[in-house]
Amino acid sequence: MDLSHIKDAKRSFAMYGVLERIEIINKNIWVDCPQCSRVERVVKNMLSARGVTPAPCLLVCGEGGAGKTSIISRISSKYAAVDGVVAFASLSENPDNLRFRDLLLLALGVPLKAQGGAGKIPNGLEKYLQLRKISAIVIDEFHDALLAQLGEQRKNLSLLKTLSGPPYHLRVMGFGTFSAVNALKQDPQLERRFEILKLLPWVEGDEFRSFLASIEENLPLRKASKLYSAEIVNYLLTNTRGTMDEVLKAIKFGAIHALTNGEEKITVESMNEGFIRRWDY
Ligand SMILES: Nc1ncnc2c1ncn2[C@@H]1O[C@H](COP(=O)(O)OP(=O)(O)OP(=O)(O)O)[C@@H](O)[C@H]1O
Ligand SMILES: [Mg+2]
Repeated sequence: MDLSHIKDAKRSFAMYGVLERIEIINKNIWVDCPQCSRVERVVKNMLSARGVTPAPCLLVCGEGGAGKTSIISRISSKYAAVDGVVAFASLSENPDNLRFRDLLLLALGVPLKAQGGAGKIPNGLEKYLQLRKISAIVIDEFHDALLAQLGEQRKNLSLLKTLSGPPYHLRVMGFGTFSAVNALKQDPQLERRFEILKLLPWVEGDEFRSFLASIEENLPLRKASKLYSAEIVNYLLTNTRGTMDEVLKAIKFGAIHALTNGEEKITVESMNEGFIRRWDY
């Protein structure tokens, strides 16, 4: 059996039974792509740049499903082990309805009790950040803080300005939707500290074809699907608007249906079947 369309390390999975292979397909696999690696490179360079004042900040924006949270997980698995360099906050995980300031301080490791009066920066934060060697805070769903009511929005922008300026020099790295860019424009001085990177939808081209080829190398199907062929590329772009999440879903459900119907390769028909029946396999 010719399994050369699968990468060496994963080739043996193709011989597993259908249920085991469905389980493999359902797991998230990471495939490098130029937009994702650019974000990771910029984060790395910003973290290693010393003595830049005010601190360099980053805003990564993309629509829903563009891959923002996934990139944050990658950054977190790379830097979380390094003592305290990067703190992580997600504005969507806020069951206690905390204010932006409280959430950020909690993410930095300052317990609510020690946060001091509302709206203020706690005494000794500078020393604390130095001691714990925290030099950056990564914030998911960043737009939430910037699209608050005007009064709240001003406070949040001003807090970010304080934290990224002296004496804290915290690199603020926000991930959110494009609306965050407009909100940032409210404060031109703060806006200038931010590098803005966009995660755009896939378009027809070599980068997309190469991404699809790498995905195919990871899937345990016994026949080559040639995901990079014009027919499949066309189908994907027309049916997913190029959104990372939707492209991956189309391929994964297509792969699962190709397994259950015995065809062993993803085709336009198996992806159509996947779109209609999704989890019903
Ligand atoms: N480079 C990649 N390789 C493989 N899968 C990826 C990649 N980037 C993103 N994904 C997958 O795409 C899906 C959507 O990604 P993610 O949840 O990170 O998007 P998001 O921009 O945070 O969306 P939202 O705005 O809805 O929070 C996830 O299933 C994720 O595993
Ligand atoms: Mg997300």
